[in-house]
Amino acid sequence: MHPTARLAVRSSGFRAAAGTARLSRFQPSTLPRVIVRFSSSGSNPQYEFIQVTEPRPGVGQITLNRPKALNALSTPLITELNTALLTFQSTPSIRAILLTGSQKAFAAGADIKEMAPLTFSSAYLNSFIESWSNLTTTLKKPLIAAVSGHALGGGCELALMADIIYCTKTANFGQPEIKLGTIPGAGGSQRLTRAVGKAKAMELILTGKSFSGEEAEQWGVAARAFGSYEELMEESLKTAETIAGYSKVAVQAAKEVVNKSQELGLRDGVEFERRVFHALFGSEDQKEGMGAFGEKRKAQWKDQ
Ligand code: CAA
Repeated sequence: MHPTARLAVRSSGFRAAAGTARLSRFQPSTLPRVIVRFSSSGSNPQYEFIQVTEPRPGVGQITLNRPKALNALSTPLITELNTALLTFQSTPSIRAILLTGSQKAFAAGADIKEMAPLTFSSAYLNSFIESWSNLTTTLKKPLIAAVSGHALGGGCELALMADIIYCTKTANFGQPEIKLGTIPGAGGSQRLTRAVGKAKAMELILTGKSFSGEEAEQWGVAARAFGSYEELMEESLKTAETIAGYSKVAVQAAKEVVNKSQELGLRDGVEFERRVFHALFGSEDQKEGMGAFGEKRKAQWKDQ
């Protein structure tokens, strides 16, 4: 724990208060509950490598903040990122999450200085990098990655784990691991290949060549690419706010069914979608949404 940590560790009890969240859903019940406060001002003394804010109603923002190393993704940084994501996941007022870096670097990869001395047995026995997957396995709220500058190696892979990537046209994506005598280790060979197809992924991963944000948009890696950093951040926040304005039940279901398309064959995927679609007829928000349309008024979501 960072020396300036203000994590309140309690053995029991939970005080529900604005800006306070608990992690107990994600932890074995034998562990103490960890309560993390995040501020709307942007200062989070409990974190060393990230900043956590609530820039818009319903929107939680995590900003990678390790500028001296271009946001290289060290294990302590990933641990903080996971803590912040799980906190947002269990905070009812947060409905969409934005993950970003600086204008210069989203993240320049896994931390090469940390990896350089690793041995096979230490990486294998300590499941090195496995904790990065927490992001995709436990996060049910939508995650938008706003990418400016370098998104290389693990930085590119981290962005690919998000539900939506927005970037600047000049963003610098790539999987340069081959130049370091290694290969992508956080899902790049799988997610990039699904995004751009085998031929392009092979070329990018075997040569280590970068691709621009403009190309990322053309190839379907990024949903949109913007002309300036300011536009990127504004549009990312707007999209997060839009999503935050919908029924939580429908949003979570939508994310779940789209993600299934990456794992299931078409027939099973369509079947899965239909089952979830049928299930939503059991939600109050489906009745509210369709009722509001009929009555020509704005829907009041109950998240039920
Ligand atoms: N790990 C650790 N430190 C890093 C880093 C990384 N991935 N990327 C940059 N840094 C550090 C540099 O060492 C440097 O620190 P010092 O000032 O202490 O020397 C600082 O960040 C600034 O970097 P540069 O001086 O190199 O900045 P630049 O503007 O000249 O170049 C860059 C920027 C092209 C991104 C260059 O830093 C670079 O090539 N970085 C490495 C990119 C890379 O190979 N990423 C893949 C890592 S492997 C991986 O991610 C495995 C996986 O799949 C999980």
